Amino acid sequence: MKIGIFGGTFDPIHNGHMALVKTARDQLFLDKVLFIPNKVQPFKAGKKPASVSHRLNMLKLATEDFEKGEISTFEIEREGLSYTYYTLEHVKEIYDTGEIYFILGIDSFLGIEKWWNSEKLLSACTFVIGARPGYDEKNFGEFTDYISLKYGTGIIVLNNKLFDISSSEIRLRLATMADTKDLLPKKVAEYIYSNNLYTGEDYLNRIAPQFSEQRKGHVLNTMEVALKLAKRYGADPHKALTAALFHDLFRGCTSSEIDEIILEKDLPKEYMGKPYLAHGKVASAVIEDTYHIADKDVLNAVSFHTTGRANMTALEKIIFLADLIEPSRSFEGVERLREKAFVDLDEAVLMALENNIDFIKEKGLEIDEDSIRARDFLCNRIKEKKNGE
Ligand SMILES: [Fe+2]
Ligand SMILES: [Fe+2]
Repeated sequence: MKIGIFGGTFDPIHNGHMALVKTARDQLFLDKVLFIPNKVQPFKAGKKPASVSHRLNMLKLATEDFEKGEISTFEIEREGLSYTYYTLEHVKEIYDTGEIYFILGIDSFLGIEKWWNSEKLLSACTFVIGARPGYDEKNFGEFTDYISLKYGTGIIVLNNKLFDISSSEIRLRLATMADTKDLLPKKVAEYIYSNNLYTGEDYLNRIAPQFSEQRKGHVLNTMEVALKLAKRYGADPHKALTAALFHDLFRGCTSSEIDEIILEKDLPKEYMGKPYLAHGKVASAVIEDTYHIADKDVLNAVSFHTTGRANMTALEKIIFLADLIEPSRSFEGVERLREKAFVDLDEAVLMALENNIDFIKEKGLEIDEDSIRARDFLCNRIKEKKNGE
């Protein structure tokens, strides 16, 4: 009996997973495929997945029409840590077969030697690997040769349709209301919506579990206002929500923590010792690397939300304002600014900048040059607009 094993967190299970397993089943004529959801270690801070029951329910919905598919709750029910090697032994025993095919993506396979008991694991079954777009065939070929020589491992690289999606990307898309059509099995998508999973709040709890309730509330409020402003001014709502979600990721970090990242990411040194300005720059640099946010407009909106700058895009202005006018903010003039924000974006940003500059002057602090340039730019632009009328 040929049995395929496919493990994962499935948080959530998506079409990339399903396509990979289907290809493995069909190309290798597997008699059965076991989907084995992981237990996730609670001590992994910030990585808390959806609850076991939600992950299982989604898996059931995704696999109910999947021929020869079956779910095994072995790892979830097992006491203590769940190691793949134990799972493998268990499956061998239950099905009384030595023909086990362990299905996994290329990235996981590249780290296989770091797995617990990898030496035994690598000689205990055949590894079936699904590629992803952009993988380096030559390097990977060298790696598989090395593994099979060293451990005697049977390795099959699937001829699969390359899927470039990950659960983490899907979670961000769900949290920011971006389109997930074609990425999730239909019933899984419906389940997510009806159970309100993977919301902005859920995402925030994962990426910033250290946030106080107050700061969490500020970020969620900023998202809400950013979304309204994006709708009002025809900006991309997904981008607005993404920028708002990450804008204060480093707010609350100490000055020295932020300075360390400034040095590490080679950001302008003039922001050292100024965490109230630098937290945007640092967040922008970190989310680009860690969360693979590639959109320059989103990155700039995060980066410049503390200062503004000359010639801001609509998205930059939206984040700059949403941060200031969200409902929990209270300062003199905030009501006027709230109203103005939905009437004229440029005038509202100018109003906010003038407010900020006055406030900083009063405190006798140094005014950021980008803020001055932003103010002068908008002054001229508004004047030109009025003259042109
Ligand atoms: Fe901020
Ligand atoms: Fe903020």
